[in-house]
Amino acid sequence: MTRIAVVEGDGIGHEVIPVAVRAMATLRPDLEYFPVEVGYRHWERTGCPCGDIDIAALKTADAILFGAVTTPPMKNYQSVVLRLRKELDLYANLRPVRGKGFDILIVRENTEGLYSGIEEIGPDQATTLRVVTRRGTERIVRAAIREVQRRNLLTIGHKANVIKSDVFFRDICIEEATKAGVPWNERYIDALALDLLLRPATYDVVVTTNIFGDILSDVASYLVGGLGLIPSANLGDRYALFEPVHGSAPDIAGKDLANPIAAIRSAALLLEYLGDPLAAGRMEAAIQEVLKAGICTRDMGGSHGTRAFGDAVVRVLERGRGR
Ligand code: NAD
Ligand code: IPM
Ligand code: MN
Repeated sequence: MTRIAVVEGDGIGHEVIPVAVRAMATLRPDLEYFPVEVGYRHWERTGCPCGDIDIAALKTADAILFGAVTTPPMKNYQSVVLRLRKELDLYANLRPVRGKGFDILIVRENTEGLYSGIEEIGPDQATTLRVVTRRGTERIVRAAIREVQRRNLLTIGHKANVIKSDVFFRDICIEEATKAGVPWNERYIDALALDLLLRPATYDVVVTTNIFGDILSDVASYLVGGLGLIPSANLGDRYALFEPVHGSAPDIAGKDLANPIAAIRSAALLLEYLGDPLAAGRMEAAIQEVLKAGICTRDMGGSHGTRAFGDAVVRVLERGRGR
């Protein structure tokens, strides 16, 4: 049986993930869904944000649906989501941003760069080593190129005018794109961040390093109405984890205000990954139908709650079930 690990995590993860699971289970009641508890609250309760036993449980799943975890800016706290990306070697973070007249896919390197974890805090200085490896760069640009082969253009986002590790990254990306024969161009990441907002239709697949991809995806969410809308796939060669781009949103958590669309879309990406593009398409169609009916959460100018939006999506899916 196909098994889905469900991690709500913290904050609005407890609100948006149940909605996404209800939507998914409406179309695929045949899948087994099992919970795994990790995160900041779990750390407060048990002293451990994510145990080896939790990692082992996640590794037994065919795919993971993940909400968000709170990561406090503390010297000795390790982010659960970063640990999972490293331990499951989820090197490719795909973040689709689709709107009227544009369809952008940010392909973010997910295991190295400024997130190497090689860092030191001294009394007068703190350092973090930005590590860009040939293997890491080749595999992320090849993942991006596989996407371009079904699409149009690869844009390489970097800061090679200043950072030597990005000269290395850029050169390997160009080498691979040339070898594969896909059209490519390049932009400095700062200019790219603005141009993406000004001329979104001129972008297709954007490949970049870890932290640049992190920032660029939050920026790009402006094009579609905010963070509540963008899903992501974290893919490795063995494991796959699907999560919204947004975090645990403590400012609105527990208030039934969170937009569950990013979580529902993450579940749709998961179903697509499991070979069910039909169900994924139905989930997106249900979102569109509910929005058209004027039902949306506050971030999109509406007055419906997380649960009410979820109920509306599930009603649409139930109606179409068996079709
Ligand atoms: P955030 O994404 O949680 O929130 C940023 C802003 O967007 C907030 O104003 C929030 O209310 C709003 N927002 C986010 N998701 C929304 C949704 N679904 N509907 C409506 N509004 C939404 O980022 P943050 O505030 O910088 O971080 C909060 C915590 O989340 C931090 O501890 C951070 O480390 C963590 N975080 C986790 C992940 C993850 O687990 N993948 C991702 C990003 C941030
Ligand atoms: C994201 C988040 C994470 C990141 C944090 C919470 C570690 O911002 O998934 O975009 O920086 O990758
Ligand atoms: Mn982020």
